[in-house]
Amino acid sequence: MKPEQITFRPAAAQDAAAIKALVRLVRINPMALDWSRFLIASAAEGQLVACGQIKPHGEGTLELASIAVHPDWRGQGLAREVIARLLAGAARPLYLTCRSELEPFYAKFGFRRLAARELTPYFRRIQKLANLFMFREGGSLSVMRLD
Ligand SMILES: CC(C)(COP(=O)(O)OP(=O)(O)OC[C@H]1O[C@@H](n2cnc3c(N)ncnc32)[C@H](O)[C@@H]1OP(=O)(O)O)[C@@H](O)C(=O)NCCC(=O)NCCS
Repeated sequence: MKPEQITFRPAAAQDAAAIKALVRLVRINPMALDWSRFLIASAAEGQLVACGQIKPHGEGTLELASIAVHPDWRGQGLAREVIARLLAGAARPLYLTCRSELEPFYAKFGFRRLAARELTPYFRRIQKLANLFMFREGGSLSVMRLD
């Protein structure tokens, strides 16, 4: 990727369908995809190539979520850039959930994996459900926090 080929910007209403399509393509949580919370990266032709959001939960927590990079555009630092930009504008503490193998990646931004006793009710519920239904063939869902 040449940096000048990619534009990073807050999403607009007309990006909503492309955000949903990218999130579905990479098979992450397709719920709560309000475009107004998203930061997106688009290629020169306008194609949406990466996205991410800061998602508020009813219990008052904030989550770095929906980090997705189109398969054709991976391994070029796009996720890192989307995350850095979202973190720059977000309050703390900030939570996230990820497959355990991605922990080292998020640790580079200062996120720390939480022990079960540190989880809020929302993240306790999500971790329990994910580990029951999504990780039956190995791995687990980690909850991390940046203070
Ligand atoms: C995970 C994902 C967002 C990474 O996007 P990317 O643009 O390729 O990532 P970057 O090029 O910015 O690389 C970031 C780092 O993540 C690491 N990484 C990427 N995928 C990884 C994986 N599956 N397991 C472990 N590390 C991984 C890279 O090695 C890189 O490490 P570095 O900082 O030491 O160079 C992308 O593969 C994706 O969209 N996956 C499907 C959706 C998903 O899992 N999202 C995350 C939900 S928590």
